[in-house]
Amino acid sequence: MLSVLLSLNLSHLGLWASGLILVLGFLKLIHLLLRRQMLARAMDSFPGPPTHWLFGHALEIQKTGSLDKVVSWAHQFPYAHPLWLGQFLGFLNIYEPDYVKAVYSRGDPKAADVYDFFLQWIGKGLLVLHGPKWYEHRKLLTPGFHYDVLKPYVAVFNNSTHAMLDKWEEKAREDKSFDIFCDVGHMALDSLMKCTFGKGNSGLSHRDNSYYLAVSDLTLLMQQRIESFQYHNDFIYWLTPHGRRFLRACQEAHDHTGGHFPQDPTTGSQGSSLAPLGPSGTSAIAEFQPPFRQRMGPQAVTLSAPGPDQVIKERKAALQDEKEQEKIQNQRHLDFLDILLGARDESGIKLSDAELRAEVDTFMFEGHDTTTSGISWFLYCMALYPEHQSRCREEVCEILGDRDSFQWDDLGKMTYLTMCIKESLRLYPPVPQVYRQLSKPVNFVDGRSLPAGSLISLHIYALHRNSSVWPDSEVFDPLRFTPENVATRHPFAFMPFSAGPRNCIGQQFAMNEMKVVTALCLLRFEFALDPLQPPIKMPQLILRSKNGIHLRLKPLHLGSGK
Ligand code: HEM
Repeated sequence: MLSVLLSLNLSHLGLWASGLILVLGFLKLIHLLLRRQMLARAMDSFPGPPTHWLFGHALEIQKTGSLDKVVSWAHQFPYAHPLWLGQFLGFLNIYEPDYVKAVYSRGDPKAADVYDFFLQWIGKGLLVLHGPKWYEHRKLLTPGFHYDVLKPYVAVFNNSTHAMLDKWEEKAREDKSFDIFCDVGHMALDSLMKCTFGKGNSGLSHRDNSYYLAVSDLTLLMQQRIESFQYHNDFIYWLTPHGRRFLRACQEAHDHTGGHFPQDPTTGSQGSSLAPLGPSGTSAIAEFQPPFRQRMGPQAVTLSAPGPDQVIKERKAALQDEKEQEKIQNQRHLDFLDILLGARDESGIKLSDAELRAEVDTFMFEGHDTTTSGISWFLYCMALYPEHQSRCREEVCEILGDRDSFQWDDLGKMTYLTMCIKESLRLYPPVPQVYRQLSKPVNFVDGRSLPAGSLISLHIYALHRNSSVWPDSEVFDPLRFTPENVATRHPFAFMPFSAGPRNCIGQQFAMNEMKVVTALCLLRFEFALDPLQPPIKMPQLILRSKNGIHLRLKPLHLGSGK
C-alpha cells in the first residue's frame, strides 16, 4: 500500500516538475522574443548584411577570415550595421570614429550578454564590473599604474626578455622557422608576475605553463561561446562538453592564481579577513606603502603556493607588528598586490576575498595575453617590412650604446619604434572587439539614434581599417603616427586600448613593456617570414593566429643587447 502511494506521489512529482520546466521554458522564450523585437526595432534604421534565419551572422563570423569579412561589410555599410549572433542577441556593430565617440566617451556598462561569460573565470573584477563598484575599484587600482610604480618594471622587462632571447638563440641554431607566440606569452606572463604580484623566481615553472595553456583554452572557448547562440544559456552550456571543458580550464587557471573561486561568482560580500591598516579609515592607499615581496619574502608572493587566503593571513600578522607598520609606511612604491591588499573605499570598507581574487584573475589574464599578442604581431610586421625593421634597429642600437639593458629614460627616445608599435597595433589590435549596453539613448552624427538597452559592438579591427580615416588602410606606414598626423586625425580613430572612462588601465605598462621587449628582440635577431606558414588571423578575445606566428631568426651579435 505504502509503495503504491509512494509511486503515485513520485509520478505526480514528476508531472509537476515537467510542467514547471515547460512553463519556465515558455516564459524564457517569450522573454527572448520580446527582447529580440526590442533590439531589432532599435536597429530598424541600420541596414546590414543578410541574416541566416537561425544563426543570424554567426556562421559568417565563425569562419576563418571573419575579421576581414567585417571590414568588407564596413565598406558596404558605412558607420555601422546590425550584427546578430543567433536570433536573440543583436548588436549594432560600429567602426566609424564619430559613432565610436558618441558611445565610448560615456561610461556605459559592458554588455552583460557577453561579459557575464567571464564570471566563472575572472569573477567581478575591473573588466566586468560597472556602476559605483567599478568606479571604486578603478580609483583604488589606478595608483598601481603610477609612473613611480612603473619605473622599476623596466628592469624586469629587460631580464625576462633576455631569458627568452637566450632560448631563441638555441632555437635559431636549427636554422628553421618557429612559432614565437608561445615563448612571447611565457615571457609576458613571467614579467607580469614579477611586476604586479612580486613573484620572485626566475624562469617559468610547470604551473606557469599550465596557466598559460588554460588561458589559451579559455579564450578560445569564450570566443566560441559568444559566437554560438546555443551556448548563450548558462544552464545548457554547462551541460555541453565545451562547457565542461571551460569549467576544467577555469579550475586550472584558479589553481595557479591560488583562488578557490566561490561557486557563485556574484556573491562578493563586503569585508575580508584583512586587519585594519592605518590609523584612519579613509583612503588606505595614502597611508599604506609596502612592496609586498620585500616584506614577506619570495614564498609569500608566489601566488601559486600559498594562495590569496594565506597571503592575506600573513599580511594581517605582519601588519600587527608595529615596527613592520612603520617600515610599510616609509616605503615609497606600491605594487599591484600591495594596493589590492591594502585597498579600502572611502567608508573604510576593504575588498572582500572574492573581490581580491577577481582582480588577481582579471589582471593575470588582461596583463599578459594582450601584450603577448601586441609583441608577436609587431615582430611579424617587422619581418614583413624589413626596411622598417632596420630603421627601428638603428634607432635602438644608438640609444643603447654599449649598455646591455634599457632604462626608463630610454623609452621616450624610441620615436620610430613607438610609431611602428602603434602602426602594428592599428593593423593587428590585440583586442579586436569590445561590447557595451547603452544605459541611456544615444544620438549619432548622421541623425540616427539608439534607445537605452541597445547593445553595441565596437569593432576595433574594422575601425582601424576604416578607409575614410586611414588612407591606404592596408599599408604599413608608421608615419601615420607622427605628432602632426596624429593632431589632424579624429581622436577616436585609433583605439587599441579603448577610450573614455572604461579605457585600458594598463596601457602605459603595456607600451613600456612592448618598447623594451621589441627593442631587445631587434638588437639580438633579424626577423624574417616563413613563406610556407603565413599567420592566419583569428579573434579569440585577443587577436591570435590559428597556426601560430612562425618566423625565421638570424642572430646578429651586435655586441650589446645581451
Ligand atoms: C597591448 C596591450 C593591451 C591592450 C591592447 C589592451 C586593451 C584593452 C582594451 C581594448 C580594454 C577595454 C576592454 C573592454 O572594453 O571590454 C582594456 C581594458 C582593461 N585592461 Fe587592457 N590592454 C592591454 C594591456 C593591459 C595590461 C598590461 C593590463 C594590466 C596589467 C591591462 C588591464 C586591463 C584592465 C584591468 C581593463 C579593464 C579596465 C576597466 O574597465 O576599468 N591591460 N584593455
